[in-house]
Amino acid sequence: MDTQEMMTLRSVSGRIALVTGAASGMGRATAKLLAAMGAKVAVTDFNGLGAEEVAQDIVRRGGFAKAWELDVADQERVMTVVAEAAGEFGGLDIVVNNAGISNALAFDDPRYEVAWQRLIAVILTGTQQVTRAALPHLKRSSAARVVNIASTEALGATAGHSGYSAAKAGVAGLTRSLAVEFGRLGITVNCICPGPINTGMTAAIPDEAKAIFAKRRTAMNRYGEPEEVAQIIVSLCLPAASYITGAVIPVDGGLMARNA
Ligand code: NAI
Repeated sequence: MDTQEMMTLRSVSGRIALVTGAASGMGRATAKLLAAMGAKVAVTDFNGLGAEEVAQDIVRRGGFAKAWELDVADQERVMTVVAEAAGEFGGLDIVVNNAGISNALAFDDPRYEVAWQRLIAVILTGTQQVTRAALPHLKRSSAARVVNIASTEALGATAGHSGYSAAKAGVAGLTRSLAVEFGRLGITVNCICPGPINTGMTAAIPDEAKAIFAKRRTAMNRYGEPEEVAQIIVSLCLPAASYITGAVIPVDGGLMARNA
């Protein structure tokens, strides 16, 4: 392959992408970067108004996007939205399973069971259902890419986050399993494990507490920004990223690498 051909593979221009949880944080940054690079983006979120704002912003900047309200835990709605997005845009090449919630609760907290059910439904079952709804379309793509957003909580654990940690470890397992199952179809499935990132999810943590944690735990001595994670997500969505699959990749400022 000559250099010119190699360069064309480093573009998502004209590719059709669906991003979940795209109204805020890493999902929003990913939707915006994909669109800025020429992809057509289905901006989906539980928060329909937020998704609409992101899609409008993309369109204002000359990009191509449309918003859908979507709770990834609602299977019927998942089927409808994926079918509508693929129908309207003419297929689907890229799925970014980013929607997520967190809930810190002790294992013996009386509210634990309800919280567990929702964490598993949104994070793990949601990722499974969106990917399954997208599969017929991905099979028709020339460079199908699935990127799942797990967490460093899939690789290590923080006390009080067992439901989240179990759901995210499930996402990493699902990623490997689907990578193996879809490999012969040319569909890649990879997983990003973000560390501490400045998004809506961490907005309630005081700046001072964030700074102390980041200095103590990360190599970079700081929280990451959603755009820094979006860059890696989008890299995995490139047609060029054709021989990486089943990978579980920390994007954590060195948190998992650091011992002391
Ligand atoms: P965020 O709170 O800024 O964005 C999450 C988005 O997901 C929101 O727009 C929210 O409305 C949407 N969402 C929530 N439940 C949903 C559902 N049932 N269906 C569809 N959309 C839903 O948070 P952030 O940090 O950008 O989260 C993105 C992903 O990154 C999540 O999966 C989260 O677990 C993960 N993550 C975040 C880390 C962080 O430090 N912020 C660290 C590791 C992982």
